[in-house]
Order: sequence, then structure tokens, then C-alpha cells
Amino acid sequence: MYKTAIKQLADAFGDKLSLSAALRKTHGHDESSHTGKSPDAVLFAHTTDDVALAVKICAANTMPIIAYGAGTSLEGQIIPTRGGLTVDMSHMNRVLQVNCADMDVRVEAGITREDLNRHLRDQGLFFPIDPGANCTLGGMVATRASGTNAVRYGTMREQLLSLKVVTANGDIIETGTRARKSAAGYDLTHLFAGSEGTLGITTEISLRVHGIPEMLSAGVCRFPSLKAAVDTAITTIQMGLPISRIELMDELSIQAVNAHSKTTYPEAPTLFLEFSGSSLSVADQIRSFEEIALDMGGSDIEFANTQEAINALWHARHNILYATKALAPTKSTITTDICVPISELATCMMETRKDIEQSGLLATILGHVGDGNFHTIILVDEENPAEANKATALNVAMVERALKLGGTCTGEHGIGLGKREFLQQEKASAIPLMQTIKNALDPKGIMNPGKIF
Ligand code: LAC
Ligand code: ZN
Repeated sequence: MYKTAIKQLADAFGDKLSLSAALRKTHGHDESSHTGKSPDAVLFAHTTDDVALAVKICAANTMPIIAYGAGTSLEGQIIPTRGGLTVDMSHMNRVLQVNCADMDVRVEAGITREDLNRHLRDQGLFFPIDPGANCTLGGMVATRASGTNAVRYGTMREQLLSLKVVTANGDIIETGTRARKSAAGYDLTHLFAGSEGTLGITTEISLRVHGIPEMLSAGVCRFPSLKAAVDTAITTIQMGLPISRIELMDELSIQAVNAHSKTTYPEAPTLFLEFSGSSLSVADQIRSFEEIALDMGGSDIEFANTQEAINALWHARHNILYATKALAPTKSTITTDICVPISELATCMMETRKDIEQSGLLATILGHVGDGNFHTIILVDEENPAEANKATALNVAMVERALKLGGTCTGEHGIGLGKREFLQQEKASAIPLMQTIKNALDPKGIMNPGKIF
């Protein structure tokens, strides 16, 4: 397929273009269980001009073009379902500017969140958005990602100041400035954020970063039931405690984490917490939290204060997807991702748990509970149609419940391939306008086709 386009790309890019079957295969799937497909070629872009030229060649030949960061998406976002060119952004991984005085940075889209933080650490700054995986910033823009810090710092959306984007005809545009706020025209930054590569390819990003807090304290607190843990989280938020992280894991999640990260947490519903600020304010927050938690039956509250212990705790949390997969290595996973208003979270989670119990499926429950966002990671034997059907039904029931409660089918993983029907349900009245935008910005339908819609 696309012989002429590939010849033109090879002439233009030489060694930066690869047709190797093995390399195409690794670029053909993400960390979800959606069926992969190899792209026809992989381009390692080094500059924005590379991306622009690639888009122009693809546009001239009506060849699909898909940007690839670290391949950690969870809804099939980077799978070239219609073939085409995958543009690997991993060589575009430079930090272009750090403006300490303004607490903002300019990076290339292929940098990973961990590399960015390594770069910032010496300057007393950090970038808080932390999906479990070590994903790239470009991918995080594309899916409007979040993670465990969103309760305090917001999601990717709140960090974005401006994007350099290659549009579907190969033009290069800048969507914003370094100003913290702006009322200048359409907010294109936030149109491209979350567009999953269907409108353009982001090559550079201006981001807010934050000062590393004077003091950090992280801890765990166990509960007699999942309900007690989630109620504690809800009350903590409703009382306005400025907590930095409040993450819930059920018994099975803890079992998985212990096995995978060689930790020894007792297997009970557990909140992973972090408090930050001045030492006085941290002590005060911990006291208020303890009052709420003890009231709900929480116990064994343990705090880690050394950076090493704190890192170990969050490392264990970040690896939950891999830990759950390791519970049944031959099975596939469906990762659900609903988000509801916080007052509905307990209902939503308890009914979900009942569904899991009735289904007999093996599934971990975990959540960014401070945001009303939680996942079940369902283990599925794809060869067993009855089990696969049950898992699909569980995912559908979760989404329907979330929508009924005023929530969304995805808090942070995006639509990709897996949630297209859910989007139709959730945004029924807005879909025609979304489609109009898509057709106007990408009339040839080459930008990551088949995703979102
Ligand atoms: C997490 C991913 C699954 O929360 O979103 O670990
Ligand atoms: Zn998550």
C-alpha cells in the first residue's frame, strides 16, 4: 500500500524512514488489548519541519499519518487501523527553555514525563502530571492525560500554555503565548489537547511547572471496607483539605502491587495519600485527615517522610496496571476509566463492585478518588467468549452508570478506538459539531483516522 508515498518519504528522509517489519510491528500496538496493526512505514522525526514535510507528503497521497510517543495509550489511540505512516516522536525529546522566574518550560513533544522531571529537579521545579506509564508529553497532550496529582494541580489541560502544531495540510502554527491567561480568539490550545492526533500533530509544548514543595509527606491508611475508604476520600475533598494526592486501591490491587513491587502492604482497601506545603501546614493537614479517617474506621496510618520511601510508595502505585496484568499473564486487560461528580462516587463504586462480584471476573478497582475518577482493570481470557462478553458488559454498565450520575466515559484515557460508541452516547448533541471541526481541519481524513469517531 501507499507505494508512491513511501518512495517520496524515503527520498525525502533517507535513514530516518524505516520499513523494517519488526519496527513497524512494535509501532502497531499500545498497552491496551485492542488488536494491533503495523503501519506501512515508521518515520523518526527530528524536527518540526520533518513532521510538516511528512504531513505534506501524506496529504498529497491521502495516506494516514499517526504520531507515536511512547506507545502507552490505553484505548488503541496509536494503532494505524488503516495503515499509513507512523511518526515516532521519541527523538524530539529536548527541553528547549526553562523559565524559572515564570515557572514555565518549552519542550519537544517526544520527551517523557520522567525525563522532564529529571531535568527540572535541580532547579527546584517539577511537572506534576503523572499517568502510570512513562509516557511522552505529546501523547499526554493528545489524550488530555492526568494521574495522581490532578486533585491538587489539575490535569494536562491546566498545564498548557501553548502548542506548536503541524496541521493536516502541513502548516506550522503556534496556538498561544507564555502568558498565564489570554482572551485572544479561539482557544486552539485546548482544541488540540485531547484531539488524539485527529486534528494535527503537536511538536512543541509550553507548559506550566511548579515549585517542589518545602515538605512532602506520603502515607497509607487502611480501611475495613471499600465503602469506608471511598467515604473518607469524599469527606476529605468536601472539607476542602488541600491534599496533593488521594488514591484508592482495593484488596486485590494491593495483592497485585505486593506481588509485583515486592511490598508488604496488608491486603485491605487502602488510601495512598500525599500532603505537601510548609511543615506546619503538612502537620495540620495530616491531623485533619486522621480525624476523618479514624471516624470512618481507618487504621494503621503510616507516613513516609524520606524521598526514597515516598518514591517507592508512588512507584508501587504507578505500576498497578502492570501489577494487575501480572496476576494473570496469559489474559488480556480491559481498563475502564469513568469519572463522576464526587458526591456520586461512593454509589458508583459500590455498584461497580457488586457488578464485578456477580460477574465472577477478576478485576482490580483503583482510583484517583479525589477527582471522582476510578478504574477497574478487568482480566479477560479472550479465548473464552463467555468471559469476554461479561467483561464487555461490565465496562458498558460502568459507563452507563457514570453517564446517569452526571459523569463521563473517560476521565483520562481518552476515546481512541475503544470508547467511540460511548462518546456518541455521552456527547450526542455535540457530535455533529465535533465532526464539522474534524472535517474542516482535516478534509482528507489523514490525521489518525478511525479514532474518536
Ligand atoms: C492508572 C492508569 C491505569 O491510574 O490510569 O494507573
Ligand atoms: Zn488512572
